[in-house]
Amino acid sequence: MTVDFTSPRNGIITSAEAEPFSQNVSAALCPGEKPVEPCTIIIIGATGDLTARKLAPALYKLYSNKSLPHDFLIVGCGRTALTNDAFREHMRKALMAVISVAPDDWQEFARHLTYQTLQYDSLLSYRELADMLPQLEHEHCVGGNRIFYCAIPPFLYETAARLLTQSRLSVGSGPDSNWPRIVVEKPFGTDLNTARSLNQALLQGFTEKQIYRIDHYLAKETVQNVMVLRFANAIFEPLWMRNYIDYVSIMAAETIGVEHRAGFYEKTGVLRDMFQSHMLQLVAMTAMEPPSRFEAEMVRDETAKIFRSLRPFPGDNPWENLVLGQYRAGTMDGKKVAAYREELGVSPESLTPTFAIMKVYLDNWRWQGVPFYLTSGKRLSRKLTQIIIQFKEVPHSVFRHILGEHISANRLTLGIQPDEKITLTFQTKHPGTRVCLRSVTMDFSYNQNYIGPSLDAYEKVLLDCMHGDQMLFWRQDAAELCWSFLTPVLETCEDCGERAAHLDFYEAGTWGPATARDLMRPLRLQPG
Ligand code: BG6
Repeated sequence: MTVDFTSPRNGIITSAEAEPFSQNVSAALCPGEKPVEPCTIIIIGATGDLTARKLAPALYKLYSNKSLPHDFLIVGCGRTALTNDAFREHMRKALMAVISVAPDDWQEFARHLTYQTLQYDSLLSYRELADMLPQLEHEHCVGGNRIFYCAIPPFLYETAARLLTQSRLSVGSGPDSNWPRIVVEKPFGTDLNTARSLNQALLQGFTEKQIYRIDHYLAKETVQNVMVLRFANAIFEPLWMRNYIDYVSIMAAETIGVEHRAGFYEKTGVLRDMFQSHMLQLVAMTAMEPPSRFEAEMVRDETAKIFRSLRPFPGDNPWENLVLGQYRAGTMDGKKVAAYREELGVSPESLTPTFAIMKVYLDNWRWQGVPFYLTSGKRLSRKLTQIIIQFKEVPHSVFRHILGEHISANRLTLGIQPDEKITLTFQTKHPGTRVCLRSVTMDFSYNQNYIGPSLDAYEKVLLDCMHGDQMLFWRQDAAELCWSFLTPVLETCEDCGERAAHLDFYEAGTWGPATARDLMRPLRLQPG
């Protein structure tokens, strides 16, 4: 690894000059990968959008990288009646739209694909699936390890879970009690009550060890790297607390609008879509205590503690710590884009927020008094997901008589996407006869000097599920704790008579409403 020291204002210090700092960097330490057991992946919702855009490419790439077991079977299930060949063709087209597929490889991969019609709310249909699976599994030598992947609209999860239980598909056939497994995507419910009801439905037939609740943010390499940065280095953790940190800012800015998902998004909005899950998980990764071992349950215990320490919002007046917005028409990349209210399927009077900034506090010893600013929105100026750790200024400036009181404080930026990098900003002396300070940055690019395969989030979750590793999946208590925090906020926002008055509009292609900047201003917080 080579470290680059660059200064945004004053030019670049080259890698060669930085060489002394890169001498003792050790080679990667990675234990050997465990082989994956043979298994059947049953995709419920195999003709839908998620399968086409994410699951099919992820499975194919895992297959090409030889990460799947030698014996595996993919059973696509959907309401549409299709032959096996028609399903294979459907999958091939979906793949071709995203990645290039060599014909020979495709032929070999397609041998593992088969299709079964499934009416999602019919017990009879699930029983038919239960009857046909053993024969297929026998033909493909996969034994009885099964993963049921719910790639259906979230309102159907509960029905699918109940019918899998009633048809006894949730019952394992082998000695390992961790099979079969069920995978559900966020949102896990729409509030605390619906989340509890979904969890009850899942737990009727499956144990917690068999339930994989996905948050694809946790599967991003750079998010996992937050734990490695904090807990595999001695220099950050002693400073990682209220004594030295002024505030934390977590941003997930998107350029896309609602796209074709108005039906879902109108009822969901940015708080349910991004905050209940991704944003709070990023808070947990940033703020959690070190677990005593890097093991799923220990890590999940620590993240649950963070959710438990989220300070409830003031019920009567959340608006001091919350700004909601919705995008108007604007220009993005030189092209005009429509307002949210003009998007297909969106009500012209919609009050659904597409942007939010929220100031939250954690009531625990380490973080007391440190604000966490969480910002997410659609149609913002650029795609940017990052975590900023803003340190406090030096307690006393020895340069005061020369430079005045203020010295820029250190900032550590963890770039999650699209720039996968870590940047530390600090002060140095400007070369020359006089004492002047300048801010310089030290950058580490995540993929620097790495040429191996990289796993995208869906490849990672599929592989972890096959391995039975639940570290990057939500546990029931965590999902419910996050809803406990957010549900009162949602109720206040959605039920208050002045709902319209609390929705601020912003032009597409900007950084959100001006009121959001007001909330951020006291801390001189700038995106980017
Ligand atoms: C999904 C949300 O969970 O995450 C989408 O439902 C959002 O609305 C997406 O666009 C963002 O994911 P990423 O990986 O592009 O940041």
